[in-house]
Amino acid sequence: METALQSNQLTTLANENQRGLINSSAFTFSKEKRLPVLKTKMETKGLSIYYNKTLAVEDFSLSVPANQITAIIGPSGCGKSTLLRSLNRMTDLIPRTHVEGSVLLDGENLYAPNIDVVELRRRIGMVFQRPNPFPMSIYDNVAYGPRIYGVRNRVALDDIVETCLKQAALWDEVKHKLNQSGMAISGGQQQRLCIARALAVEPEVILMDEPAASLDPIATLKIEELMQNLKSSYTIIIVTHNMQQAARVSNFTAFMMLNDHKAGSLVEFGETAGLFTNPKHKQTQEYVTGRFG
Ligand SMILES: Nc1ncnc2c1ncn2[C@@H]1O[C@H](COP(=O)(O)OP(=O)(O)O)[C@@H](O)[C@H]1O
Ligand SMILES: [Mg+2]
Repeated sequence: METALQSNQLTTLANENQRGLINSSAFTFSKEKRLPVLKTKMETKGLSIYYNKTLAVEDFSLSVPANQITAIIGPSGCGKSTLLRSLNRMTDLIPRTHVEGSVLLDGENLYAPNIDVVELRRRIGMVFQRPNPFPMSIYDNVAYGPRIYGVRNRVALDDIVETCLKQAALWDEVKHKLNQSGMAISGGQQQRLCIARALAVEPEVILMDEPAASLDPIATLKIEELMQNLKSSYTIIIVTHNMQQAARVSNFTAFMMLNDHKAGSLVEFGETAGLFTNPKHKQTQEYVTGRFG
């Protein structure tokens, strides 16, 4: 539970974070209003997701800006992971799920019949709550995706592995032991390895489902720093039930909770500082001040 004091701290965090946003190169300014206009990278329109006949997410419409970090927050069980998985059609892998509405990537509906799901999951990568390195060497974990896509040249693979491990802020810690198992490093390192593995296939969007939930505070901070460095090149969507984390790392926040039908729905979406400082809805206010959740 957040106290009132923690809630003030959240506001400060969100405000400081916002200064970074203003300096972001992703902004263009419209001539008349001098307001920032952001390019939309992904969009959900009237998205509803069912497990069997049970509605888990209802009528969810959200525009995700390019080269920004968007956080999805809300109480446990409100459908955050379900929503996130639908954004790269991981939902397809769960039997008896059913999706209505659309998910657009650069304006193209990912649920259209002719979509190449493998290619779409290359463009939209995912990092899970528990680090899940493959049982193979650090090197092979990162080279795995590129190899599947046909990269065989050793020099090219070496280059990809080094670049991605550097982007994931892990290179210096593992460069002398690339042939050791990816499972024989710390949890925080494993999660950065999973991020490097996701980067290796050159995605455009990275989905992160509570990526620091199983990590200690120092490893968590590393992941958060890393996200800030990645956002100039990627669009990041992070699910978290940790509000401090959302306030620290994200530029935009979507707050969702269960509606009257016991399905997850969007309550409020906006710039993170605004949503924490001056929420428009009573439910958001109650959640960010820790009255429930
Ligand atoms: N694979 C599944 N099969 C059936 N129901 C599921 C499955 N995954 C999640 N649910 C249900 O969907 C609802 C939302 O879950 P989830 O998306 O995991 O919420 P959150 O990530 O916000 O905690 C919950 O009621 C959960 O029990
Ligand atoms: Mg979840």
